[in-house]
Amino acid sequence: MLYVEILGNFPEMAQDEVKAMLELAGGEILGRDYLLLKVRGDGRAFPYLDRLGLAHEYGELIVEAGSIEELLRKAEREEWPIRGTFKVDTETMANCRHNVTDLPRKLGAVIHARGFRVNLSRPDTVVRVYCGEKLYAGIRLRFFDPKEFEMRKAHRRPFFRPISLHPRVSRALVNLTKAKKELLDPMMGAGGILIEAGLIGLKVYGVDIKPEMVKGAEKNLRHYGIRDYVLKLGDATRLEEFFPGKRFEAVATDPPYGTSATLAGRKRNDLYRAVLRSIYSVLQPGGRLAIAFPADFRGEEEAGKLGFRLVGKYYQRVHKSLERYFYVFEK
Ligand SMILES: C[S@@+](CC[C@H](N)C(=O)[O-])C[C@H]1O[C@@H](n2cnc3c(N)ncnc32)[C@H](O)[C@@H]1O
Repeated sequence: MLYVEILGNFPEMAQDEVKAMLELAGGEILGRDYLLLKVRGDGRAFPYLDRLGLAHEYGELIVEAGSIEELLRKAEREEWPIRGTFKVDTETMANCRHNVTDLPRKLGAVIHARGFRVNLSRPDTVVRVYCGEKLYAGIRLRFFDPKEFEMRKAHRRPFFRPISLHPRVSRALVNLTKAKKELLDPMMGAGGILIEAGLIGLKVYGVDIKPEMVKGAEKNLRHYGIRDYVLKLGDATRLEEFFPGKRFEAVATDPPYGTSATLAGRKRNDLYRAVLRSIYSVLQPGGRLAIAFPADFRGEEEAGKLGFRLVGKYYQRVHKSLERYFYVFEK
């Protein structure tokens, strides 16, 4: 059994991101306690879980218990796959119902008695304890260092445009499409979504109507070591012309909002409808689209008219005058 600790800012989107990855890896989510997901999965899931954007960490779940006494009792009987030295680290979630003040010391003593050495400053293995409705203890396998995503925020890229999603959100959009080999962003801007897709090994295709964006996105992709890309100058409402006969496995995009962003002379809602239609025409049957729209656009209804099926919808309040939804559709 595995656990995944998701981030708290978009819990529903984060949970669905994990679900999408497990669907590719033959696993499933078995339950959730606040931000902790209990997951059925084996080693095949690791390369997919390694892709996650909205997760804090994942690991092997060793013990689950309803009380501290039960946790310690079970811990005495478990095999602890600890490599080298260890340390117990506790996460008290907002719904924690147990007094865990002394737990790291007590659980540390139990594991120590099994022959493992403690090292509080530089442990080889981190034993994670989560306190929510219940208690959970496991071995951390992968921690997603926030600094790695921060390094790719818009202002850290060689070609800078302020209108860009947070890299974690871009990564999640890519994953929600369940892409395994390729992804198209038909309104790529500075390439934030394509960077996240390229870094997990997908071949990336990008389109933008502005020449400086096409040049800038290429600069950014190369800066992050991405070489397998096809970028085109063009109109996202006419995708079939740029990719004749091509049917994409996945599309993710963040269209302009029509406030400070450019709409290239079009009415915003007309542009959105035309882009949806154009994306539908180049997507494989069963292929997925992840797309952001301001809250006052009826994304679900408009996409539904074209034949898209809604798979997920997640709300975000960006600031006072911008509320949006991220949608995931399937053709
Ligand atoms: C919000 S930005 C995308 C930001 C991008 N996701 C990023 O991370 O940098 C929207 C982009 O859509 C482009 N655009 C606007 N109308 C377009 C059209 N009809 N076809 C293609 N691109 C278009 C704009 O030039 C702009 O770069």
